[in-house]
Amino acid sequence: MSDTFTFTVDGKEIAGRPGETIMAACDRAGIWIPRLCAHPDLAPHGSCRICTVLVNGRPQAACIQPATAGMIVDNAGEAVTRFRKNVVEMLFVEGNHYCPVCEKSGNCELQALAYRFGMLAPKYQYQFTNRRIDMTHPDVMLDGNRCVKCGRCVRASRDVDGKHVFDFVGRGHERRIGVDAAGRLGATKLAAADKAAEVCPVGCIVRKRVGYAVPVGRRKYDHKPIGSEVEARAQEG
Ligand code: FES
Repeated sequence: MSDTFTFTVDGKEIAGRPGETIMAACDRAGIWIPRLCAHPDLAPHGSCRICTVLVNGRPQAACIQPATAGMIVDNAGEAVTRFRKNVVEMLFVEGNHYCPVCEKSGNCELQALAYRFGMLAPKYQYQFTNRRIDMTHPDVMLDGNRCVKCGRCVRASRDVDGKHVFDFVGRGHERRIGVDAAGRLGATKLAAADKAAEVCPVGCIVRKRVGYAVPVGRRKYDHKPIGSEVEARAQEG
């Protein structure tokens, strides 16, 4: 197509399309850019910054930054790798992410990123948060201590489900996920089949009664690291 252009990622020339983000172009080319708030069915948000790349030497969020002709993108250099690992470490200490007792273990994108980045003990101090654990909904539970503030549930409920059940409340360090009812999750219009109940990357919003339907050891990231499905495209093409 005549309106495509090329740009360079880690020394490799790839094709971009007008209006396409760096992340979308890289996905097509089989180059994985780590991510947490981005989701293929939701509008990009640009909040977690795990997708940070260097564009002509300047940090940019690849999920929202449009690709342009001739740009030079660093997606694998030491600086971006260190930055992303630090963000993941900060997320781990900011919430209560106790993987061995979390139903999401093995399917958790934060845990999978930590494995992929070779994270061991975080160098930051654990915060040991004490936020609300809401079990009032018959089919879905909400543990605010595991929220990574990616906003996927907010966008899914508002843009896909048309309900706006979730949103953030509070500011700064007090920011947390809230629901649109004066009561708790059980008083909202959330249904277990809603997109908002499906897209949480961690164990914050979890459907009830499906725990261990897939045993630990046979879950999504137990055998293949996160990002491998994107990288497989490079081998195919
Ligand atoms: S994936 Fe780009 S900012 Fe979160």
